[in-house]
Amino acid sequence: MIISFEGIDGSGKSTQIKRLLTRLDLLGKETLYVREPGGTAMSEQVRDILLDPSLDIHPFAEMLLFSAARAQLVKEKISPFHARGGIVVCDRFFDSTIAYQGGGRGVAEPSWLESFQLEVTGGVIPDRTYFVDITTETAESRLNIRFGEEKAADRMEQAGGAFFERVRNAYLTLAERHSERVCIIDGSGTESEVENAIWEDLSLYL
Ligand code: TYD
Repeated sequence: MIISFEGIDGSGKSTQIKRLLTRLDLLGKETLYVREPGGTAMSEQVRDILLDPSLDIHPFAEMLLFSAARAQLVKEKISPFHARGGIVVCDRFFDSTIAYQGGGRGVAEPSWLESFQLEVTGGVIPDRTYFVDITTETAESRLNIRFGEEKAADRMEQAGGAFFERVRNAYLTLAERHSERVCIIDGSGTESEVENAIWEDLSLYL
């Protein structure tokens, strides 16, 4: 089984992933945690390029770099573990590219990006995707930054608030289009509330 977590920066998905991994461990499940971009030696180097605030990267090149890191991660880590019957938990997967590069940057039509991503992953699609949804205002107050400010931590966060609005809307559209797989989780509640909402859904599939 492959589970992915999605959301704008500051959505709290990484905290939720930790909580989920603990629950799965307690059930004795074999799990593999991977984060994007990254997770392999090659993909971590690509990550450094992608998040480097001193680089000016063309949006289409950015999309290809995220995709390159993903292709490597799928081949090297996700597919072999999945084939052995383990549960793979992904901190972001190709929906991030559709939301950030498609919705946020407008590099290509979502339908083109979706078919391209299927080529990138060799047809690997998550079984369940949790889109942890928060407003951009909540994201900014949690991260203690204003999107678009220099003080923002990495190159992606330096994009302005309007960018993150577009990313969020792209996620919402995606969740509607793929309601069979993408589950919208209200990320504004307490950590335990969000954790329970995710578990309520996932336990139906375990
Ligand atoms: P990271 O520090 O891992 O952020 P987060 O904790 O929010 O996941 O940085 C990853 C950044 O890269 C984040 O801003 C989302 C962005 N991103 C894309 O724009 N496209 C992608 O395909 C992926 C995987 C991430």
